[in-house]
Amino acid sequence: MPDDAGVVRVAPDLAMILTVDFFTPVVDDPVDYGRIAAANSLSDVYAMGGEPFAALNVLAFPAASPELPLEIMGEILRGGAEKAAEAGVAIVGGHTVDDPEPKYGLSVTGRVHPDAIVRKGGAMPGDLLVLTKPLGTGILTTALKQQRLTDAELAPAVEVMATLNAGAARAMRDAGGTHAATDITGFGLLGHLSEMLKASSVGARLSVGAVPVLAGARELAAEGVAPGGSRKNLNATAQMTRWAGAIADADRMVLADAQTSGGLLIAIPPSALDALLRRLSGEQTPAHAVIGEITAEPGIVIEP
Ligand code: CO
Ligand code: CO
Repeated sequence: MPDDAGVVRVAPDLAMILTVDFFTPVVDDPVDYGRIAAANSLSDVYAMGGEPFAALNVLAFPAASPELPLEIMGEILRGGAEKAAEAGVAIVGGHTVDDPEPKYGLSVTGRVHPDAIVRKGGAMPGDLLVLTKPLGTGILTTALKQQRLTDAELAPAVEVMATLNAGAARAMRDAGGTHAATDITGFGLLGHLSEMLKASSVGARLSVGAVPVLAGARELAAEGVAPGGSRKNLNATAQMTRWAGAIADADRMVLADAQTSGGLLIAIPPSALDALLRRLSGEQTPAHAVIGEITAEPGIVIEP
């Protein structure tokens, strides 16, 4: 099971974390798109317990297009620069290619003490699972594309996607004791959790009612709004998932919903839980919810 990013040990007390991520626009506003794409790219470094410090822009944009003037490109880069500055990351260069479909993200380098690297493997039975952002961004951005949602209605989801996982990572580092972590992105909560479980040779029990969800996502999922990726995630995890009790299809879709720039999923022993939750609330992460626990039996049991 690959980690969230590549790690290279360069000295006994220093490792570099390298990652790259870019994607097509998820929202209409180019500055917001830049902010979200940058926050998403930085996230894999945070998920591994690292601190990003340098990045390169990765950009695809049409050289000449009547619908997409070059000012739009400038706004995407401005959004990315804003997030990088907030993260204390220097954007030291980049590369642009001519492409009819815009794509943007960062190649990021971070640092971590080799003893402080947090991986997907290492979760132990009895650990609690903590999630630091609500789910539903895939469903909500799909609703925007289908014109079932206005930009104003999407605004809370945009802010969640643009929120750096820096605060969550700091809380995790300061609390200590974390056994495993990953960030929730395209494979959804169920997909990324299943990677953590496989890497750790354990299982999990989740409680649907404890999972934080963005307003409107459940209702839209009940009306059949969901990206193709979320349906794929639900199918891909069906084998290892047992639905224990009456759980609506909409809730199942939310758990599998493909996220953009989602939160951290942290497996932590009960003894360190309070310290983590206190710090997460101090950092004002978009959520700090205990959504389940790690079990010895493989697979995911989902209760209402
Ligand atoms: Co990741
Ligand atoms: Co990634």
